[in-house]
Amino acid sequence: MIGQRFVLFLVGFLYPIYAISNDDLLVVSVATNETDGYLRFIRSLNVYGYNHETYGLGQPWKGGNIQFTAGGGQKINFLRENLVRYKDDTTKIILFSDSYDVMFTQTPESLLEKFEKFKPARVIFGAEDFCWPDQNLQYEYPFVESNEKRFLNSGGFIGYASDIYEMITSKEKIEDDEDDQLFYTKIFLDKNLRDKWSIVLDKKADIFMNLNGAVDEVELPLRNDEVYIHNSWTDSDPIVIHGNGPAKRSLNYLSNYIARTWSSNAGCLQCKENVIDLTKIDDQEQWPLVYIAAFIEYPTPFLEEYFEKILNLTYPKKRLAIFIHNQVEYHKNLTDKYMSTFKENEYKFVKYFNYDDDTTEGEARQQAITECQEDTCDYLFVIDSVVQLDNPDTLLKLISLNRTILAPMLMRPEKTWSNFWGDYTEEGYYRRSPDYLDIINYNKTGLFNVPHISNCYLINGTFLKKFTPQYIDPSIDPDVKFSQSIRDAGFFLYVNNELAYGHLMDPDNFNTSLIIPELYEIFTNFLDWKSRYIHPDYYKSLEPNATFQQPCLDVFWFPVVTKRFTEDLVDLMEKFNRWSGSAHNDGRLAGGYENVPTDDIHMTQVGLNDHWLYFLKEFIQPIQQKLYTGYFSDPPKAELNFVVRYMPEYQSKLRPHHDASTYTINIALNDVGKDYEGGGCRFLRYNCTIAATRRGWTLMHPGRLTHFHEGLPVLKGKRYIMVSFIDP
Ligand SMILES: *[C@@H]1O[C@H](CO)[C@@H](O)[C@H](O)[C@H]1NC(C)=O
Ligand SMILES: *[C@@H]1O[C@H](CO)[C@@H](O)[C@H](O)[C@H]1NC(C)=O
Ligand SMILES: *[C@@H]1O[C@H](CO)[C@@H](O)[C@H](O)[C@H]1NC(C)=O
Ligand SMILES: *[C@@H]1O[C@H](CO)[C@@H](O)[C@H](O)[C@H]1NC(C)=O
Ligand SMILES: *[C@@H]1O[C@H](CO)[C@@H](O)[C@H](O)[C@H]1NC(C)=O
Ligand SMILES: *[C@@H]1O[C@H](CO)[C@@H](O)[C@H](O)[C@H]1NC(C)=O
Ligand SMILES: *[C@@H]1O[C@H](CO)[C@@H](O)[C@H](O)[C@H]1NC(C)=O
Ligand SMILES: *[C@@H]1O[C@H](CO)[C@@H](O)[C@H](O)[C@H]1NC(C)=O
Ligand SMILES: *[C@@H]1O[C@H](CO)[C@@H](O)[C@H](O)[C@H]1NC(C)=O
Repeated sequence: MIGQRFVLFLVGFLYPIYAISNDDLLVVSVATNETDGYLRFIRSLNVYGYNHETYGLGQPWKGGNIQFTAGGGQKINFLRENLVRYKDDTTKIILFSDSYDVMFTQTPESLLEKFEKFKPARVIFGAEDFCWPDQNLQYEYPFVESNEKRFLNSGGFIGYASDIYEMITSKEKIEDDEDDQLFYTKIFLDKNLRDKWSIVLDKKADIFMNLNGAVDEVELPLRNDEVYIHNSWTDSDPIVIHGNGPAKRSLNYLSNYIARTWSSNAGCLQCKENVIDLTKIDDQEQWPLVYIAAFIEYPTPFLEEYFEKILNLTYPKKRLAIFIHNQVEYHKNLTDKYMSTFKENEYKFVKYFNYDDDTTEGEARQQAITECQEDTCDYLFVIDSVVQLDNPDTLLKLISLNRTILAPMLMRPEKTWSNFWGDYTEEGYYRRSPDYLDIINYNKTGLFNVPHISNCYLINGTFLKKFTPQYIDPSIDPDVKFSQSIRDAGFFLYVNNELAYGHLMDPDNFNTSLIIPELYEIFTNFLDWKSRYIHPDYYKSLEPNATFQQPCLDVFWFPVVTKRFTEDLVDLMEKFNRWSGSAHNDGRLAGGYENVPTDDIHMTQVGLNDHWLYFLKEFIQPIQQKLYTGYFSDPPKAELNFVVRYMPEYQSKLRPHHDASTYTINIALNDVGKDYEGGGCRFLRYNCTIAATRRGWTLMHPGRLTHFHEGLPVLKGKRYIMVSFIDP
């Protein structure tokens, strides 16, 4: 305390001590609706400790058709009604501010200091570069310097209470739908009135920054770990930031950083505010009811995994309901199957629209909102078929963040394609925001107010009671319409990237005419292809300390593909069914002749050869380089890649031979003792037999010279192997 007085004393010695303190300052605003923008405004006031009052909450808005810009004479009428009690107060300082599109960025002390500097002015209005609503009045405005703002904006002003009250009551009556800015403009342009209350404009944006037309002037420097606004054009650090008119989206962008939402050290500060922790509610019957709405609008690869991951979400099943819209005939059987699974798992069944129900995407999405509204769900969780929610905690985390509408950030792996837009053009098209790459690369993690989200998002059910997002519009896509309808109503769309939630599929090359289309997805959806088809233990072989089983000399053995891969590949070949019939004459070969023929199908025949070569490069070559060092060709060449079928009633074995390869891989595609008996491989030079082959494991052995080998007879059933002859 003593120190503080001492400082005050010193300051007082040099300058007059500020007579005014934070207690004298009152921020007043008018808002009829607690929009997200309003809550953001109040938060910013509370963060810096402003005294504030709001007038009009819950009352009908009659101030004109720009519903959420809070323009209109009704604002003045609310002020007249509420400020009457300060009408004689000559020390109280009133700062009026719009609320839905305004944020405060510095302390009341800084603000008052700036106010003092305007003396002898007693009332200060914010200024901007546009003369509105009556452009003809521009010629009546005093001239200003080139880097100053000339025209009055009524979204923010500050002055002594008595002056303000006199000013707003200076006209007998104001209609609710009259224009308030015009009202104040006329006062300002009347020299007598201007002098009476000593009104000036904040030409250099010292206090009020109106962003419309001035977004390029804004910089976001750091001070004490906090992001603030600097106007590089007027060289000021404005405090009251107003996203007037179309600049709302710029304010939304800035709102991710200013007003202590972001700290350069601690990152996202708003992520830690108002957090909901459901795990504290022991009785799971009390958990919020979440409607999951699944949309399958086009053929999508890895749909099984999509459903499995929804089933895997950590949440009590009894508090989940499912709404599915499937527009794809190809996906009917699988969707049917999972509908049954959901029912068996005690999900609250809601509705299932199938492809033959003739419901469009827009209608179905709208219907999901309606169902949720009618059944008073607590949340609606939209998940499109391209979404792979790898993280089972996604739903819990999204709920915890307590937002009206919130999307988990999802990306196409290794791409810059995501489920949100950082910005958009005047025409409503995608535009990259300055922080887009930082967000998608997790260089910045947190909550981001963005103009467009899609594919996966959680909507608060209480919000749906007062507002219905729209999907249907003949001229734009349902998801574009959705975001637009939310934005236009003054609500916010957030994206969060604090966790890795999952990823997006690329459905573009998915060809449902193929027998097992997912097998072909190695190029387009590599991550999902690996998850489904590469053996989880394969990756251990890549570790530097990995050891390999060596059942015969220089024959190595390791897991490479999943059971699912073996099933899908055998299924593909059996359905394709053009087995070669073990003929010596073979039109598929360059020479047209096979010395040691097998009953097989080549990968080229099923259009999988390029995919397989890529598989060899990605998964086989790295192991080969460990086992047979100093041998490298890029990419590995493999002329022959084929699935062989042995069965006793047909070709049951293969006589001793060398392979046309430097080394060979031989992957077991089914189970000895279960699918077949007998079989195996014997290396003659070493008198070494591998009979107990393992499904999904590959043998890797030199192709010739030392490793003369034979296929042992299959006694019962069918044995399948996948073989590649690999060469320099
Ligand atoms: C608030 O906004 C919602 C959504 O537009 C609207 O339905 C509601 O009537 C508004 N309430 C008031 C009091 O203006
Ligand atoms: C969730 O947010 C709302 C405001 O948006 C707030 O009223 C409520 O208290 C928050 N819930 C928790 C648990 O903090
Ligand atoms: C579902 O969760 C289980 C247990 O955590 C996990 O083993 C499995 O891989 C998950 N399934 C999918 C498709 O992610
Ligand atoms: C779905 O299942 C039915 C009956 O099992 C079958 O006839 C049909 O071919 C299957 N449809 C698809 C697209 O797989
Ligand atoms: C991450 O962001 C910080 C600050 O914005 C920047 O200095 C750094 O270079 C960025 N790192 C990467 C990997 O982009
Ligand atoms: C939804 O939003 C309302 C209002 O912001 C809030 O009070 C509530 O806690 C949120 N959550 C649910 C489940 O409604
Ligand atoms: C899809 O697969 C079928 C069957 O192999 C093929 O005929 C067709 O050309 C493929 N379509 C595309 C677009 O690749
Ligand atoms: C190999 O090293 C990894 C860590 O790099 C370790 O987790 C693993 O247990 C080790 N394996 C063996 C067989 O030592
Ligand atoms: C090869 O091994 C088998 C048993 O593994 C043995 O019975 C046989 O005598 C061996 N043959 C030769 C030539 O060593």
